[in-house]
Amino acid sequence: MTQLHSTDHLRQLPSLAGLCSLERAVAQGAAKPNGDLAWSVEHSTERLKRLHYVLKRLCETLTAWIPSEPIYELKTLFSHHAYLCAEQVELLRRRVSEMREPPLGLDRIPHAGLEMLLDEIIAAPTTQERLWGIYSIALPAVLEACTRLQSDAHPLADAPTVRVAKLIHFELSEALSVGQACLEALVDDERRSELGTWSSELQQCLTAAGQLDGTRPAAVSLPAARYSSEPFVFSSEPQRDERFQDSFNAGVNPEAFLYDERFSAQDKTLMMHYKRLRELDVPEMMASILVELREQEPWEFHYEMTRQMWDEARHAMMGEVGFASLGIDWTQIPINFTWSRNLNAQLDARERHGVLFFIEQGLMPRTGKRYEWEVGLASGQPLSGLFQDFDWADEVLHAQIGRRWYVPRYSSLNQALEYGDKCWSKVLSHWREYREQGLTEHRNWWPELYSLACERWGKTPDPAAMAFAETYESSRADLQKLE
Ligand SMILES: [Fe+2]
Ligand SMILES: [Fe+2]
Repeated sequence: MTQLHSTDHLRQLPSLAGLCSLERAVAQGAAKPNGDLAWSVEHSTERLKRLHYVLKRLCETLTAWIPSEPIYELKTLFSHHAYLCAEQVELLRRRVSEMREPPLGLDRIPHAGLEMLLDEIIAAPTTQERLWGIYSIALPAVLEACTRLQSDAHPLADAPTVRVAKLIHFELSEALSVGQACLEALVDDERRSELGTWSSELQQCLTAAGQLDGTRPAAVSLPAARYSSEPFVFSSEPQRDERFQDSFNAGVNPEAFLYDERFSAQDKTLMMHYKRLRELDVPEMMASILVELREQEPWEFHYEMTRQMWDEARHAMMGEVGFASLGIDWTQIPINFTWSRNLNAQLDARERHGVLFFIEQGLMPRTGKRYEWEVGLASGQPLSGLFQDFDWADEVLHAQIGRRWYVPRYSSLNQALEYGDKCWSKVLSHWREYREQGLTEHRNWWPELYSLACERWGKTPDPAAMAFAETYESSRADLQKLE
């Protein structure tokens, strides 16, 4: 038999399964000059726990800002970045649980400096300060800690930790550059210099903690609290920026149009774009569930619900893209926000969760998400078919999340559904009151939008579709009649 490999060839093979050179693996294990071990399970766990604490707090912070943040792009960005933080928290928890440590230790606050840093950021009063705190101070500190963890952890013995640090760095670097682009757009030089003092105070919190990962000497004391002297108060009332007009308008009932057999699939895609964009109210509502049940539900609940919250923000952006594909400016259409506004004001977190589950479960039968997908496919608008395909898949996931985290609180699925339905029924829509108070005239915006779309499609409007004028005055989005 011929020798397939000469020893020379074998010597050229990458060592240690591609982790690092033998030299580095030997050198990284040498004791420090003072005789301490260079790396240990304890070292690794301590760093992972610090990252875990900060990323979990950042996830909670971004979530808590979603309703009160008026700017559309930031509301969706916060939903995205809260989700990304949740994914990193999940990675870190899994790694810590592999390190002979009970996961219980994850609830400990690793250092008062880190606690104060995050208390200050969440309590920051303006959008500019909030962006600054996250994208100019906290997130860069997270990336720095990940870089150091990648180089300090033993590349062979602690390879799983190195991988976690690498993945977090990879995903959050992108989040950081997007956040910094927001700072570029919204914080000018003058404002930056005004933020200088607070910025140094936040840096001082990090210095006091020996940096995020505790690897630097910590000789300074904590600064005086600027924004965190009073505990942060969550505001669940949804705010929208000035591009949103007539947000109380409930003068068009898209579901009534969608399920009306007289209308064409193509015309229905327009109502589906509207329905998707209106879903911006779902993250606003879900954020309030997450904030209010923070202490009452385990991490796994928050992890899955944060994913769902991000999906809903994505659905809203699909609507935005749908309108963009037709060259229609969505800001000309009243995007209603009274669902999240009323639910957040009138129900508690458990009741809101009931309504969410009831609605999402109602999307599962043939008339729900599958129907929307079929309409999209039949419409001759490939983008609508594509979006509805993924929207449906996401909603199946959400119904499963509800079955894991909502239904088990009730004696049966039916009872869980009845409770959700009952909670939704007790929400007052204030349809007439809004009109009487002059908040909206419930103007029928449909014919205007429809004729514009027909122009873009190059088709003659269908007179029956043009005449559509059903409102939400006496029915809910599931077409249940209101008393
Ligand atoms: Fe959705
Ligand atoms: Fe959903």
